[in-house]
Amino acid sequence: MTRHFLRDDDLTPAEQAEVLALAAKLKQAPYDEKSLAGPKSVALIFDKQTLRTQASFSAGIAELGGFPMVVDGRLAGIGSRESVADVARVLGRQTSVIVWRTYEQAKLDEMAAYAGVPVINALTDEFHPCQLLADLQTVAEHRGELAGVTVSFLGDGASNMAHSWLLAGTTAGMHVRISAPAGFEPDPAIVARATEIAGETGGSARYLVDPAAAVAGADVLVTDTWVSMGKEGEAEQRTATFAPYSLTVPLAALARPDAIVLHCLPAYRGKEIAADVIDGPQSVVWDEAENRRHAQKALITWLVGSGR
Ligand code: CP
Repeated sequence: MTRHFLRDDDLTPAEQAEVLALAAKLKQAPYDEKSLAGPKSVALIFDKQTLRTQASFSAGIAELGGFPMVVDGRLAGIGSRESVADVARVLGRQTSVIVWRTYEQAKLDEMAAYAGVPVINALTDEFHPCQLLADLQTVAEHRGELAGVTVSFLGDGASNMAHSWLLAGTTAGMHVRISAPAGFEPDPAIVARATEIAGETGGSARYLVDPAAAVAGADVLVTDTWVSMGKEGEAEQRTATFAPYSLTVPLAALARPDAIVLHCLPAYRGKEIAADVIDGPQSVVWDEAENRRHAQKALITWLVGSGR
């Protein structure tokens, strides 16, 4: 059966641990795994802006012995020039894996239904699961474990990053706190699914309005831009609404003294995070950005069945 990675809970807790263990191994020996030898091609389709995702997938696919076939989603016109299903059928005959950054999760689901090869979510409006694999790898490196670790996400609780933290964090057995203003709560269905997963793994999922309460005693602090791609028209209103959730030095001081700080980038200093925090000693954002490559190489290798 062809496996896909469309949302964080597409990997069971055991499978997520297997991928993360492989990611750690590949970080130590980046050129030892050739799961795309041939070279096999991987389609990288972008309907939205990117730096880290394109760079890390391209470099990682090359390291695996494959060819990164970058496809400009606007040129291809997926869903407008031709149907998602027809694009899936065509790319599935040319490539071994399809990686797609787009808007609606439903389009990704349709791609997976027709491609015949693994499809990977490189960010949708709903989830950013590849980022979470890199984030979990980074937390494991700096904290030594994932189970039982408390992570606090500040900002838009209805964003793809908040939703992915809920699913991926609880899959890893973490205690996930999402702090956001009223009106920007996480999707109740995602919270319910995260709570269900947490029941299996010993983690937990909570939504808190008060950012100070959310951060108190946390091991890991996470934030993200207040203006996700597609929300640019709401920038002014969002900046005012989210101001109390800015990750400042006084707010970060409420967490454990050795808490680490994550941000998936791009970052807006003085908005969702203070320069003194992202550029300070608790920040691990550059490790996090590097780990995109290792985590995605592990994911691709796991999905194509090599190295298992
Ligand atoms: N974090 C992340 O996905 O970065 P890009 O949007 O630059 O790919």
